Amino acid sequence: MTQELTSPSPAPQAPGTGRGPGWWRDAVIYQVYVRSFADSDGDGIGDLRGARERLPYLKDLGVDAVWLTPFYASPQADGGYDVADYRAVDPLFGTLQDADDLIRTAHDLDLRVIVDIVPNHTSDRHPWFQDPELSRQRYLFRPGKGESGELPPNDWESVFGGPAWTRTDRGDWYLHLFAPEQPDLNWDNPEVHTEFEAIMRFWLDLGVDGFRVDVAHGMIKAPGLPDIGHGAQAQLIGAQVLPFFDQDGVHAIHRAWRRLLDGYGDAHGRQVIGVAEAWAPTAERLALYVRPDELHQAFNFQFLNAPWQSDALRSVIDASLAATASVGAPTTWVLSNHDVVRHTTRLGGSLARARAATLLMLALPGSAYLYQGEELGLPEVTDLPDEVRQDPAFFRGGRATGAAGPGTDTESAPDGVAAAGGQDGFRDGCRVPLPWSGELPPYGFGPGGSWLPQPADWGGLTVAAQTGDAASTLELYRAALDLRRRLPGLGDGPMTWAPAPDGVLAFTRPGLLCTVNTLGHDVGLPAPGTPLLSSAPVTVDDATGRLPGDSCTWWAI
Ligand code: BGC
Repeated sequence: MTQELTSPSPAPQAPGTGRGPGWWRDAVIYQVYVRSFADSDGDGIGDLRGARERLPYLKDLGVDAVWLTPFYASPQADGGYDVADYRAVDPLFGTLQDADDLIRTAHDLDLRVIVDIVPNHTSDRHPWFQDPELSRQRYLFRPGKGESGELPPNDWESVFGGPAWTRTDRGDWYLHLFAPEQPDLNWDNPEVHTEFEAIMRFWLDLGVDGFRVDVAHGMIKAPGLPDIGHGAQAQLIGAQVLPFFDQDGVHAIHRAWRRLLDGYGDAHGRQVIGVAEAWAPTAERLALYVRPDELHQAFNFQFLNAPWQSDALRSVIDASLAATASVGAPTTWVLSNHDVVRHTTRLGGSLARARAATLLMLALPGSAYLYQGEELGLPEVTDLPDEVRQDPAFFRGGRATGAAGPGTDTESAPDGVAAAGGQDGFRDGCRVPLPWSGELPPYGFGPGGSWLPQPADWGGLTVAAQTGDAASTLELYRAALDLRRRLPGLGDGPMTWAPAPDGVLAFTRPGLLCTVNTLGHDVGLPAPGTPLLSSAPVTVDDATGRLPGDSCTWWAI
């Protein structure tokens, strides 16, 4: 149920300098997984031109910025997270001119653009790795153990499964925390620092407004590369500090980048940001990445992983807000991305819960990231045939674990996740190309096919089918983003918990009260105001509000 606000007023615009309160503190940022967003040339693979053509859709949706996943020159061993040339666009996705056009078009629409930067590793096709001399200095080569060096240097496992080391023809080994085609860089080498700062300047000069820092917790390894001593390391990522992740040394790199970003922003009258993709064991350790002299944002994966239970949600929200407040940063909420099971499926295969979770997220103070297709309520595709799968983890025998964390661990997953845990936890099922229009695949994705097959029953989920249907998930997102913009202070203002029955969360924000019923059945409570927006039809009779099961309502107060 949507109602018009009586006195809409625009949120104040942040100043255009690199310092102080900024646009990013409460921005809603939409993740474009370029390969699956929109295809302009009919090769079945999304591209920059396709993304540019669809920017008006994102403007109309009501987001503030887009984050583009890697479109750089790459052999695509890991969906482009294996970069061979950080300053070139892969022909699959277009040209540098297309990138430039996209950034300009976005800015004309008042949308900011964030691009990925991948500093933990390069492609094995990168010229540095191809050069025998340079590679020894700029990557992590070590002699093997055993009589003739036939054993890996330590017991570290790749996030994608199998050993984190590959032996070369020369007999030594190199470290790759991800696929063998993604050798880890040696961040003890100052040339690596210099190069990444130059890459950032290259893209800043092209106009980007920030960087999503891939594996921001990974560049520094514990001295001596010590053994861990037990297997199943993928399950420990994000649960404890491992000698290859979340080492204190990474923060010096982030400090240097913040200096670069602030200096660049100040010099050009822009606010340019860094967002950390960091898997840290606690909210406190994650907050270290967003100290005032480090990055601006860090994805809150603990929120993403929280089960659909009021107590669990409340405690993760409290812990996140307290940790980020202690360093003066906003919290950065996220429910879905290209590495985890889509939240419609993850939350028990329940679109009702997914819609409610989104309204909850958008009512919380801070910034939020949306993953393409969640605004359509897309589920994870769980029946992809093996022959079409491309996730390197699938080929390396990785377990049911997302690329970078425990989010899709189907064995320890909370209620609802195990039963619907994607396709063995691999990542192709959340990357199926978007349905835009029509009754049949490729549903307007492009003039050709689509690199992963789309389900036959997505005709009702297309953008065209949902547009104008007030009950649709797309219109729910549009209404929520519209309200969010028009309620001053909703993004970055205070939040106070309000009394609520068991299983229900209630909290006030500037201009509204949010209730979330996590139970599977209706709950009645004294109506706290007038319903503004609800993920499911809410009724008010005789001053009693009836919250449908698995729903979230924003009330005008
Ligand atoms: C990215 C993944 C990628 C991995 C290695 C992750 O954090 O989001 O998609 O496979 O980093 O670059």
